[in-house]
Amino acid sequence: MMDVLTPVSPALEFHHVTKRFPDAGYNAVDDVSLSIDEGELVTLVGTSGSGKTTLLKMVNRLYEPTAGQIVLRGHDIMAADPVQLRRGIGYVIQQVGLFPHMTVAENIAVVPKLLKWDSARTGARIDELLQLVQLDSAEFARRYPAELSGGQQQRVGLARALAVDPALMLLDEPFGAIDAITRDGLQNELLRIHAAHRRTYLFVTHDIREAFKLGTRVLIMHGGRVQQFATPDEIAAAPANEFVVELLASAGTSVGPSGEASVETSGGMSAGTSVGTSTGDDVRG
Ligand SMILES: Nc1ncnc2c1ncn2[C@@H]1O[C@H](COP(=O)(O)OP(=O)(O)O)[C@@H](O)[C@H]1O
Ligand SMILES: [Mg+2]
Repeated sequence: MMDVLTPVSPALEFHHVTKRFPDAGYNAVDDVSLSIDEGELVTLVGTSGSGKTTLLKMVNRLYEPTAGQIVLRGHDIMAADPVQLRRGIGYVIQQVGLFPHMTVAENIAVVPKLLKWDSARTGARIDELLQLVQLDSAEFARRYPAELSGGQQQRVGLARALAVDPALMLLDEPFGAIDAITRDGLQNELLRIHAAHRRTYLFVTHDIREAFKLGTRVLIMHGGRVQQFATPDEIAAAPANEFVVELLASAGTSVGPSGEASVETSGGMSAGTSVGTSTGDDVRG
């Protein structure tokens, strides 16, 4: 294949990245080193308090590492202007963060406006993005966030993050507050959007089955440390340690290849199995 001749440059690299919050007696993220290739959809899964959000927020510089280096497409992120850096990174969170006083169209247009796109280009992009997330432009463009369901809000959040076609998308439990059926649809759409554009995605979840369904590779964290970083098949075939074994067991025994968990076909637990609590409590061992 041609690809083997093309030098592969990682999209995102972590070099011995550690984060200790002031006055904390432990590292929230502890000596993380890994590399993510262009076009991967890496899912990051772990118990509550394992450092997932902290790791993500260091990439767009909402948090600063205590030690180590993060390199985005060959550039140390600490050398970049944080505002410029963030405009080049899509960011989707569970609480969506749509501006309530702005319409759907205005919400999507926030970054294009900052980048001074003209109105024709912005309008065309809004239509294209609404189509991409399967919301009818005629019906939804002029609505306000309060007039949308949770799933629809999340679609708009996704559209907004994708507006300027960022090379990197960071998603922090984006579907965490969505019911199981809607979430399944959103997951499928995310897979479709990712396959169409081949941008790099880093997707945080505490739902092991979501992680296995979406991830080209799954990054398992616990206590701020990487437990395993491999494809779903590799993890299922050879869990790296006892924690990973237990995590897989919590998803209902066999999270097999392509993320099909046995409990799904037996009709139970369609909401997906989550690990730990969602309270943000520290559950370190
Ligand atoms: N802003 C903060 N200040 C102090 N401690 C924090 C802050 N954010 C997170 N932590 C702590 O860092 C650890 C990791 O948290 P977090 O990254 O939010 O975990 P996760 O997203 O995996 O649930 C937890 O022990 C948490 O209490
Ligand atoms: Mg979190």
